[in-house]
Amino acid sequence: MEKFAFVIHPISAKRDISRKFPFAKALPESWIEFALRYKSPMEVSHITGLKSIAGPEAEGWLVGCPLSPKLMLSLPIEEVWKKILATVKLAEDHGAKIVGLGAFTSVVGDGGVTVAKHSNIAVTTGNSYTIATAIEGSLKGAEMMGIDPSAAHVAVVGATGSIGKTCAQVLAKTAGSITLVGRVKDRLEDIAKQISTDAKGTVGSTIDVESGIKDADIVVTVSSAVDAIIEPQFIKSGAVVCDVARPRDVSVKVQRERDDVLIIEGGVIEPPGDVNFGFNFGFPPKTAYACMSETMMLALDGRYECFTLGKEVSVEQVEEISRIAKKHGFKLAGFRSFEKAVTEEQIAQIKKNAGRKKMI
Ligand SMILES: NC(=O)c1ccc[n+]([C@@H]2O[C@H](COP(=O)([O-])OP(=O)(O)OC[C@H]3O[C@@H](n4cnc5c(N)ncnc54)[C@H](OP(=O)(O)O)[C@@H]3O)[C@@H](O)[C@H]2O)c1
Repeated sequence: MEKFAFVIHPISAKRDISRKFPFAKALPESWIEFALRYKSPMEVSHITGLKSIAGPEAEGWLVGCPLSPKLMLSLPIEEVWKKILATVKLAEDHGAKIVGLGAFTSVVGDGGVTVAKHSNIAVTTGNSYTIATAIEGSLKGAEMMGIDPSAAHVAVVGATGSIGKTCAQVLAKTAGSITLVGRVKDRLEDIAKQISTDAKGTVGSTIDVESGIKDADIVVTVSSAVDAIIEPQFIKSGAVVCDVARPRDVSVKVQRERDDVLIIEGGVIEPPGDVNFGFNFGFPPKTAYACMSETMMLALDGRYECFTLGKEVSVEQVEEISRIAKKHGFKLAGFRSFEKAVTEEQIAQIKKNAGRKKMI
């Protein structure tokens, strides 16, 4: 039996902690954040039932790193690394031979490099498979909305980041044109220059999210912003937006105010076997984040190596992890939007609504 673990953490200190400790609802967020700093990592659940279509089986653990994104971005990085490493050690003590860094534990600092250097077991961020499935999901969503990717204008928000940059690199090869959105102009222009050598159409860049996405038919958004950065009025009618970021980039207002755009969550995966995560992290039973899935498939493959680390992810890594996923039977689950499943009928209705708006 192969063994793995995956590090999770609260996304919103108040919301997530009061799910387990209801009295926390009455406390100010700052008190909960303060208490988290002094809490030790803990086992959250035991994962059973993972079985590859190629034969191997694995068990795993969700281990909790008690820090929120806000804390991880504001505390001294050494303190954050110490807490992540203590969580990784807990995974090792359970027998895991590889550990995946979930959400912000892979974003802060150097993308897992320092954590891996001080760990006795293999570490991966899961970003290779997150990229593979963000691209697959966006293109599938586009197809269902009747968008031809080769003629489409694509925007990638967070395009200077580990996930965003490689998504942009791959999508630029086939898209009609592409705009890169981030916060730092020089960095964006450097990446735009690198990408244009292999791009099919024009490659633009901007630090303004609204103007960057307002003409886009396909948006992949993967920033590390701690609050929503995409508002209802920013999105083109009929567009598909794949929100890979955790916390989400797309404001919940979009769900209420726009019935003519398709918002999908990136990276919802169906792993092989009869998997029980023993914990509700907001996905339907038997489905997992893409980054979790990367850890699981590496364990099933017996590849106890630091597959994805650091801020650079190559197209070759994305292709390799896609091959490993196929070999063991991991696949994209149905679309989800704001934590709910989206049916084909709903997508057809969104498409109709967008068509109606165009006629007005
Ligand atoms: N769904 C999944 O399975 C999954 C898996 C892994 C990660 N994630 C999520 O993916 C996101 C990105 O991860 P990453 O590893 O690629 O992070 P990263 O390397 O730190 O990149 C983050 C990017 O976001 C940009 N950014 C940050 N704040 C912004 C703002 N307010 N407006 C516009 N751009 C902004 C950064 O720009 P500059 O730094 O250039 O300013 C950078 O381009 C995180 O939310 C993470 O939790 C999801």
